[in-house]
Amino acid sequence: MKAQKKTILSGMRPTGKLHLGHLVGALENWVALQGEFSNYHLIADYHALTTNLDSSGIYRNSLDMVIDWIAAGIDPKASPIFRQSQVKEHTELHLIFSMLITAARLERNPAVKEQVRDLHIENVSYGHLGYPVLQAADILLYKGDLVPVGEDQLPHVEIAREIARRFNAQYGEVFPEPEGKLTRFARLPGLDGRRMSKSLGNTILLSDPPEEIQRKMRSAVTDPKKIRKNDPGRPEICLVFTYHQKFNVPEVPAIEQGCRSGALGCVECKKRIADCIARTLTPFRERRAYFESHPQEIPAILADGEERARARGRETMGQVRAAMQLG
Ligand code: TRP
Repeated sequence: MKAQKKTILSGMRPTGKLHLGHLVGALENWVALQGEFSNYHLIADYHALTTNLDSSGIYRNSLDMVIDWIAAGIDPKASPIFRQSQVKEHTELHLIFSMLITAARLERNPAVKEQVRDLHIENVSYGHLGYPVLQAADILLYKGDLVPVGEDQLPHVEIAREIARRFNAQYGEVFPEPEGKLTRFARLPGLDGRRMSKSLGNTILLSDPPEEIQRKMRSAVTDPKKIRKNDPGRPEICLVFTYHQKFNVPEVPAIEQGCRSGALGCVECKKRIADCIARTLTPFRERRAYFESHPQEIPAILADGEERARARGRETMGQVRAAMQLG
């Protein structure tokens, strides 16, 4: 008999068009894990409200994100893609889970603390404090065994584990204890050397055309000691070299040597990596173009994914209510 496939629950907040950091940090991993596991791909549209009450762009951003997921190789037939807000069981499970964790524990959560600091939030809402509780419901509604995440998300996964244990101890074994599965690559830095992020304006979008990639790359920071073309550079501290290591593996030794000796100038070095990235993204842009000319297909893909997610959610909630003897 074949062992049952493990379930992976992966999710992102709908931030609109995705960038290279999403590809390297998350999407490549999601695509690689298809087939071997049963995958659910969640759009955390309720979570978007925790840091921005303006909901008017959420749907548009969700559609844009789904196009990028599919263009990157996610197969929506094999793995449902769905919005959290369209599966009401998320909110039911969230409510029950909110009784199983203390307010003090949530206040100690470093991930929310960091967000509050970075975004200068003065008074944290009840819902924002409960961010990881909703995330726990996202994961456990599908009985997710594994959650592919970046390191920053591990505190949230830890809370999901605590909630699962607490539920099982109190009401009987319903949930697995989900594990965070760290992505293989370290985070890709943005063009200014900080974390690549839309809000920092230092991204290369997966949908950027080649000229745009060239233009953006010209602004990338390099070794500040390499001022003139023939000055020797230090690839180990150069951001552009990091991109070569990721997107231009065969040329890495030549680039490194050219940079160190001073034979290769930054302008040329940037041109080459921009070419490589543009080439890597060609099939991606083509798939994206298809959906841009067939926009009605994305809502249909979501409707299908949401129906399948709902079926699974209902089943789990039935088990939850039975375990709790709620009738
Ligand atoms: N917190 C995640 C992020 O900011 C998004 C998210 C919401 C998520 N629910 C999830 C990720 C469930 C994994 C599983 O990226």
